Amino acid sequence: MKTFIVGNWKLNFNVGEASIYLHKLQKKLPNYRDVEVVVAPSTIALQPLSLQIDRHKMKLAAQNAFYRDYGAFTGETSFSQLRGVVDYCIIGHSERRYIFGEDDKMVAKKMEAAVRNKITPILCIGETESERSFGETADVIRDQLLGGLRDVSEEDIDKVLIAYEPVWAISSGKNAKIASPDEVAEVVKLIRKTLEEIYGEKVAENMPVLFGGSVNPSNAGAYLTVPGVNGLLIGGASLILSEFADILEIAKRVRS
Ligand code: 13P
Repeated sequence: MKTFIVGNWKLNFNVGEASIYLHKLQKKLPNYRDVEVVVAPSTIALQPLSLQIDRHKMKLAAQNAFYRDYGAFTGETSFSQLRGVVDYCIIGHSERRYIFGEDDKMVAKKMEAAVRNKITPILCIGETESERSFGETADVIRDQLLGGLRDVSEEDIDKVLIAYEPVWAISSGKNAKIASPDEVAEVVKLIRKTLEEIYGEKVAENMPVLFGGSVNPSNAGAYLTVPGVNGLLIGGASLILSEFADILEIAKRVRS
């Protein structure tokens, strides 16, 4: 399995800035064989960047999309409109869940729509600080995982990526903390155990599970060597070209 390094740019960079970043990154990047490099710019930048991107070197992800293909849904962009423009879409990010009120039902519909439109969904799951402190982590992870995958058929389940992002470890959060590799390992094990119960051993083993939350060049190597972690979902550090490039080199080193 490849190692997935995904940069989530969130609401940063206008189209010009995104294009310049992409240009510089592509120039710097070798052709990684075992590392899948993905960036997720704002929706407005996706179309122009899709014409600029060298898909042999890297891929584009959307940060969000709506599950209906067309209709009276003011302000939305559908997966069908993004088909051919992006290869991936981040779904159920905690910022969508807690700022925009997306629940597991909405997340499930988006997962189904992504797969139907040949866009690989990256399902984000993770507990808040208070859920963790009340000992609810396992329940939250299970609920978000099963809830989010509910509308994905068994035959499509191998087209899905999972990202474990503990909300308390996301750098933009209040008093963000750093998750220890052991804490990550424990939850990733739980994710795979839950997948095994529902979909069997093969699915559980083969599903890529990424980690996200305050990842930077000094901790990327430690997270990438956590058993069961197949990649990283990076916010803040992905906005700094040199840091993102350093993380990619670390990923390549860990693989070899
Ligand atoms: P940070 O890397 O800035 O903590 O963000 C993580 C994240 O939310 C990526 O989706």
